[in-house]
Amino acid sequence: MEEKKRKIVVTSALPYANGDIHIGHLVEYIQTDFWVRFQKMRGNECVYVCADDTHGTPIMIRARKEGITPEELIARSHAEHLKDFTDFQIKFDNYYTTNSPENRLLSEEIYKAAEAKGYITRKTTPQLYCEKCNMFLPDRFVKGVCPKCGAADQYGDSCDKCGATYGAEELGSPKCTTCGQTPVVKDSEHLYYELEPQHEYLEKWIPLHTTSDVSNKLLEWFKEPLRGWCISRDAPYFGFEIPGFKDKYFYVWVDAPVGYIASLKNAGKFEMWNDPEVELYHFIGKDIIRFHCLFWPGMLNAAGFKGPTKVFVHGFLTVNGEKMSKSKGTFVSARTYLDNLPPEALRYYYAAKLGGTTDDMDLNLSDFVQRVNSDLVGKITNIASRGGQMLQKKLGGMLGTMDEEGKALVEKCIAAGDVIAKHYEDRKFNQAIVEICRLADAANEYFDKREPWKSVKTDEEATRTTLTAALNAFRIIAIYLQPVLPEYAKKAMKLFGESCWTWESASETKENSALGEYEYLASRIDLKQVDAMVEAAKAKPGESGEVSHESRASKNKDKAPSPAKDASPLKEEIAFPDFEKVDLRVGVVESCEIVPKSSKLLKFVLDAGALGKRTIFSGIRQAYPEPEKLVGKEVVFVANLAPRKMSVGVSEGMILFAGEPGVDGGVLSPSSPASGGTSVT
Ligand code: MSP
Ligand code: ZN
Repeated sequence: MEEKKRKIVVTSALPYANGDIHIGHLVEYIQTDFWVRFQKMRGNECVYVCADDTHGTPIMIRARKEGITPEELIARSHAEHLKDFTDFQIKFDNYYTTNSPENRLLSEEIYKAAEAKGYITRKTTPQLYCEKCNMFLPDRFVKGVCPKCGAADQYGDSCDKCGATYGAEELGSPKCTTCGQTPVVKDSEHLYYELEPQHEYLEKWIPLHTTSDVSNKLLEWFKEPLRGWCISRDAPYFGFEIPGFKDKYFYVWVDAPVGYIASLKNAGKFEMWNDPEVELYHFIGKDIIRFHCLFWPGMLNAAGFKGPTKVFVHGFLTVNGEKMSKSKGTFVSARTYLDNLPPEALRYYYAAKLGGTTDDMDLNLSDFVQRVNSDLVGKITNIASRGGQMLQKKLGGMLGTMDEEGKALVEKCIAAGDVIAKHYEDRKFNQAIVEICRLADAANEYFDKREPWKSVKTDEEATRTTLTAALNAFRIIAIYLQPVLPEYAKKAMKLFGESCWTWESASETKENSALGEYEYLASRIDLKQVDAMVEAAKAKPGESGEVSHESRASKNKDKAPSPAKDASPLKEEIAFPDFEKVDLRVGVVESCEIVPKSSKLLKFVLDAGALGKRTIFSGIRQAYPEPEKLVGKEVVFVANLAPRKMSVGVSEGMILFAGEPGVDGGVLSPSSPASGGTSVT
């Protein structure tokens, strides 16, 4: 009655190379890992591939900002990401990169197939171009006045104030966000991937390969002709040049999904992709449905490639009921988590919460501590630590045989295997955990009723009988937990002198055999560790810009994210005598207020000690939405700058700020209380 073994290819979305892996990402990679490990335990041939998503403007800009090449940046990210995943016990069969020769060739092939079918069209559109930066400006690289409501300082795609969406060329007084110069309008030709020719194909495909909530949403677009998708980007761009064009690149979302196939190819398993016997599954978050359930199946179909069997969509992570937040310390990187807490705890908690739906999932930090301690440690691990240690210390480490009641307990555990397997298969990991905890409850009940800690003093053999059943129950539970807790299972395996567990191993029992050494399996976690993690996440410097990037990027994935704002070149070097002319003093902010009708200016009055009071206007309002908080702070200012008449008044000097514009934290506050007017050296 040998079941036919399945052949399966599984992917998780390819994380962007320009940021750290965080606990939100991990919702995806951890659950994919559960599923893959489960399939492998079942004896199926299952290949899990992934890669870094390395192309696009943000990566180029980030590299420029750090003064390294994009290749250096993506090599570093690749190593960091893989280390994070490995330390979280996420095991890929191949973790590759989209910046690879395989991916270039496959992307070209898939593009050329669409071109040959007449699906690629060209359109010339006017676009903003910065003559100083020598580049066409993506929407997020230009700011100006909203054409609808007149709000200043709005990005080129939509207005934060009134919510209007528009084209960047419609902005009033547009400015390049990199250099501040006013861009010009220039024509640029772009390539579009027309989807309308596959209207019928996709309309049929979608409901068969996605869940109903996902497909219902997507199918709304099918009431009208499908719009073409712009797949080209102008130089400078870090990516693959489009064959037959100069200075035109594939938009990152063209070659990113092709990266799945390229990674499989690099693993030497290319033929699996189109093998009709192979099942293909993508795990993705709900923000990238359009790319995976519309564009991607269209691209594959047009090129004669097989599409995914199913796209599994999950929701977003919230922490304590809210969106992850840098300032609250809940935007936690994988590394910051690992510096403070064990990976098993998060894996266990995510399993306990994930039900295979598109609903968002909450990580409630106190519930997390409580759940891990009461269930994983108190309920499950406790059976092994109490039973295993007693058998080792008092009874020579030998398992005996089980009595009727013990056998019934173990039978119950074995019988639960099919239900638990079904839950894993359906990605209802939370249900699997519920069942597993039920078995642990039964084992604890049996153990407590027998009171082996008492009987061990009077009847060693009866005690051995009790412990044998309890430990057999634990062994089966640990096998069922192996997809969620692989390292934990490995240690449990050693306790029973075994070296490998498949799903089938759960139907065996261990009697009259020697127990291996008891290794510590899991220990309680403390709220203090969580607090330390949150503090560390708050303190992690240099990432404040990424938060807004992240939230924006997840809102609208095909818009370029916020540019690095200090990417402008350094000004000409100055000689020391020039610098010496600048008289820097310390002043105390006496008042600081918003200047009406100006989106940029703040009006400062400084107590400059012997120099008296100084009124200074500073264009930094964006960074300090609550200017009153600056009152009482010490700042460094240029005291001998010629007074300047501005429309709002005379400015008597200039305050120095460091760091990125738009980001709080630039005020210099000397640690020793200096009095106003002190000279700075
Ligand atoms: N590079 C693209 C994917 C290309 S796939 C051909 C991308 N990268 S990402 O780094 O932004 O996200 C990677 C995956 O992590 C996505 O599936 C995304 O939905 C998921 N998540 C990112 N943040 C998340 C949460 N806060 N919560 C849950 N999943 C999240 O998109
Ligand atoms: Zn510019």
